[in-house]
Amino acid sequence: MDFPHLHILDADQFSRVDLENVLTGTARIEKLLGANKAFGLLDGKILASLFFESSTRTRLSFETAMNRLGGRVITTVGFQFSSISKGETLYDTMKMIEAYADIAVIRHPVEGSSRIAAGAVSIPVINAGDGIGQHPTQALLDLYTIFKEKNAVEGLRIGFVGDLKYGRTIHSLIKMLRHYNVEIVLISPVDLALPESYRKELRRENVKFEETEDIKALWDCDVAYITRIQEERFADRAEFERLKDSYTINRAFLLGSRKPTTILHPLPRVAELSTDVDDMPTAAYFRQAAYGVAVRMALLMLCLKQEIPAI
Ligand code: CP
Repeated sequence: MDFPHLHILDADQFSRVDLENVLTGTARIEKLLGANKAFGLLDGKILASLFFESSTRTRLSFETAMNRLGGRVITTVGFQFSSISKGETLYDTMKMIEAYADIAVIRHPVEGSSRIAAGAVSIPVINAGDGIGQHPTQALLDLYTIFKEKNAVEGLRIGFVGDLKYGRTIHSLIKMLRHYNVEIVLISPVDLALPESYRKELRRENVKFEETEDIKALWDCDVAYITRIQEERFADRAEFERLKDSYTINRAFLLGSRKPTTILHPLPRVAELSTDVDDMPTAAYFRQAAYGVAVRMALLMLCLKQEIPAI
């Protein structure tokens, strides 16, 4: 299975073939996990898990992925427990990581930082979220979830709801969806609209999309991708307070849907998605987060140029 990349930094780097290879690799990993045959595939390899911004799913699923493959993990969480707090640069930090580990995953509050980290080293670097920029591995697990829930991506009408301005998972998934024949519905307050650079790209790639503030547009979608308003990205607190309750999706609202709309959310959720949705069969967000382990196992294997066995 060919994977022509050293690093995973941006959704743009993935061709349609690359995406298919990640999806196929993940399906293989799921089979290996089911047969208890994944352990040992990365025996002796070390993952450096560098999280300079809070995370539950991404950090723990990467670390679980490496552990399930038989590798080891070294980790640093938060600037305060790294020598960056003493003034060390990210470049120098990465020079040390290269000496200690075979592969690194990094989350950082500054857009573009994973590219700086990758530029310092010859080991693979995976972007686990860089500020309001990209979160490509989340987008890959989102894509995998759509395949698992809907059997295909082609032909789907996919609605994105919430903070399209600051939501990096949306930015990455939209870039990947340009490789498929889909219709995209962008639902947000005007002040949280998808940045023009992404809309320009959709136009250039002839992806059908529409924009609205009306949440009822979800009722005609096959997939609803809901996101929280990204409180930590707002420079103006009053602006966040004004926008934070823009939408709340609950069970009663979803019962109005004209299709069996699959509900995705990258999590964490706050007010935008009610817990009374959780036991609906179409609520796929906890399954989505769980797929993160298999997807990230496949990515660790691909980045380290290891063949994923087919069984
Ligand atoms: N979806 C996601 O990135 O979750 P965490 O912030 O918990 O890693």
